[in-house]
This record gives sequence, C-alpha cells and structure tokens, in this order.
Amino acid sequence: MNSDTIEISGNGFRYSALVGHGLVAKTGELVRKVVSGNRCAIITDETSARLFGDRVCQSFSSENFSPRLIRIPSGEKSKSLAQVEKICDEMIEAGLDRSSFVVGLGGGVIGDISGFVAAIFQRGIPHVQIPTTLLAMVDSSIGGKTAVNLETGKNLIGAIHHPALIIADVETLESLPARELRQGYAEIIKHAIIRDAEMFRNLSSRAKTPVRLGLEGSRDENFKVTHRDPSTPKAFGARDNEFVALIRRNITIKARIVAADVREISGERSLLNFGHTVGHAIERATDFKIPHGDCISIGMVAACGISMKWAGLPSQERDDITSLLKTFALPTQLPTEVDREKIVATVAHDKKFLGGKIRFVVTPKIGEAYVSSDVTMEDIRAAIAAL
Ligand SMILES: NC(=O)c1ccc[n+]([C@@H]2O[C@H](COP(=O)([O-])OP(=O)(O)OC[C@H]3O[C@@H](n4cnc5c(N)ncnc54)[C@H](O)[C@@H]3O)[C@@H](O)[C@H]2O)c1
Ligand SMILES: [Zn+2]
Repeated sequence: MNSDTIEISGNGFRYSALVGHGLVAKTGELVRKVVSGNRCAIITDETSARLFGDRVCQSFSSENFSPRLIRIPSGEKSKSLAQVEKICDEMIEAGLDRSSFVVGLGGGVIGDISGFVAAIFQRGIPHVQIPTTLLAMVDSSIGGKTAVNLETGKNLIGAIHHPALIIADVETLESLPARELRQGYAEIIKHAIIRDAEMFRNLSSRAKTPVRLGLEGSRDENFKVTHRDPSTPKAFGARDNEFVALIRRNITIKARIVAADVREISGERSLLNFGHTVGHAIERATDFKIPHGDCISIGMVAACGISMKWAGLPSQERDDITSLLKTFALPTQLPTEVDREKIVATVAHDKKFLGGKIRFVVTPKIGEAYVSSDVTMEDIRAAIAAL
C-alpha cells in the first residue's frame, strides 16, 4: 500500500481523501481509523460488486466490522427514491442503527445514492466513499453533494452530506472502459482550464505520445449509442505514480473550490460549471444518449468561443483546448443530426438565469475563469451554431 492523504476542510467539515495503489485490500483498516460503529452497509452496483466486493468485505470483516453488501443494478436509473427505500429496508433488516455507517463502492451513481442514504438514514450516519471511476475520484466524491433523480429531472432530490473519508485506489481504474475513463478526463481538463495552467501544459505534453488503451469494443451495457467508441489515449497507466499525482491534484482543485462555497452561494463553486451550460443542454436535448463528459467537452468548446468575445481568450488558447480535448478522444463538435435550436431552447430554460441575466462561466486565459453577466442568448446561439 502506498498512498497520499489530502485534507479537505471547510465551514463545519473536515475529512481526508486517500489516493494511492493497493488501497482496496486495506479499506477496513483505513476506515477503522475514522468511524466507531461496527455495522455498515456497503452499497455498490453489480459491476463494482463483481470486481471489488469480496476484497472490500474481507478487509472489513478482518477489522471486526459487520458489513452487509447491498447491490443495485449498474447505471443512472438506479439513482431513484425507489432504490433508496429498498436500500434502507435492507439496512434495517441487517440491524443497522444510528451507530452504523454507509460505504459507497462504485462510480458517481453509487456515490450519490449511498451518500443520500447516509444523509437520511436515522437522520444521518457517516458515509465513506470508495470511488472506482475516474470521474468519481476527481469530481463526484468530493464536495458533499448527494442526490437521486426524479422522473422529471436529474438530481432534484438530495442533501449536502460530506463523507467521513474518501479512499481512491487508482488500481481499480484498470478495468474501467475507455468511454468511462474519458468522462473523467473531461472534468480534469475543465479543472485545468479554470484553475491550473501548469496541469494543462503537462496534460498536453503527456498526451503527445499516446499509447492506446486497447479497450475499444469493451462490453458496456449502459451505452446503447451505436457510434464508434474511440479509445482514450493512455497518457497515464493505472500503476503510474504520475497518475496518482494527477488525481491528487484534481481532488485538491475541486476541494478548494467547494470549501470556499459548499452551497454554491458566492459564485466560486459555479466556476465548476465551465462548459456545463451548453453541455447540460446538449445532454437533455439528446435525451441523455451522449455521456456527460462528452457533452461538456462540446460545451467547453462553445464556452471558449464565448470567452473569445467577452473575456479576451486568445484564439490560440481556444485551439489548444480543442486539441487537448481531441487527444483524449473527447468530441469537440455536435453530431450533425442534433437539432441546434432544441439546444438553444434548452439553454434558455436553464436554471442558471438569475433575474433574467445569464451567468456564464468564461475563461480569459487557460488557468483562470470567472462568471460573466455580459453573455446574451444570441452569443450562446451563435456559439452553438458554430459547433
Ligand atoms: N455529487 C456530485 O458532486 C457529482 C458530480 C458529478 C457527477 N455526479 C453524478 O455521478 C454520476 C456519474 O458517475 P460515473 O461517471 O462514475 O458513472 P457510474 O457510476 O454510472 O459508473 C459508470 C460505469 O462504470 C462502471 N464501473 C464503475 N467502476 C468500474 C471499474 N472500476 N471498472 C469497470 N467498470 C466500472 C459502473 O458500473 C457503470 O456502469 C451521475 O449520476 C452524476 O449525476 C455527481
Ligand atoms: Zn460535469
């Protein structure tokens, strides 16, 4: 086992994120240091249960915890109130009470639903996150947002409930399909654009000698879109120490931003929405058939166009951003069949309109971002038309 610890703290919360190799087999020992109860529910999906369930349960049992593995189907559909109820029933049946805790073992779907269960079970019990996707490691496990979906929309029911501990074992990413890896890289590139010019340069030079992951055609039941799934360059291997450093750096970026603004009040946290106004609209207008990271990749290209007009982003930097996204096999253009007007209409209904004004995140140069109120619907329409 070899790991780095990142301390995450803010107003009323403090926890650690451990990032390293070989942590899955040590989870019991690591959790023992931060929670006192013995009974716990390990909430996971079918894929993570198959890959890591036994090792995590063994590690917990060897530390005298009484774990109950609760398995739900993989995929976004599982983030529902119906699943929450089933999970809570199973927790009661397993004898969990106020002194127990919840572990989320899986990607962002599991992190969100297990965190929500932890927030409401017996009015709140501790939550440990064991993220197993790149996106969950660098994005969804940090910040305390937990949620489930309603038929009428995503993440409409939720709570802020910070984890007690995050354990990110990069070796779990070895089995992650290229398509899922790419979704995490989209958020990493976003972090670089809004906060970290040096990381942007590192990623650009690293990605110049891409080695293919060889995961093309890997089985992926959740993804029914038929277009070819481009493989993501293996700029980093899962056992590579630089990969640990990259994940660590991204956790730190997100942690610093959310620590300053947990509930998205001051505007700091909204910088994380770079590329997301147009990206979310693409997701919704295409019925969530295009994965989130791919949509925000296209959304970031649109945001660069708008940043050139309103924030003085040099065209060379826009080109550098587009080229980095492409190197990570992320899309930079809208598929031709997608209805542009539908996306414009969806943006117009977006919740980010405050008092009739659009609050749009722009970047004046790679490594910096701010919220602008200058951007008009016409700018957004033009940026979407250019995609
Ligand atoms: N709370 C937040 O702040 C926040 C932020 C961003 C996203 N999210 C949420 O996160 C979710 C998306 O997360 P995600 O992209 O991790 O999706 P996910 O949890 O659906 O995982 C993607 C797929 O990878 C599989 N998988 C997980 N780990 C694996 C591994 N190690 N090897 C092979 N396969 C593996 C899963 O079974 C699933 O099929 C969305 O619901 C989104 O709303 C939350
Ligand atoms: Zn996102």
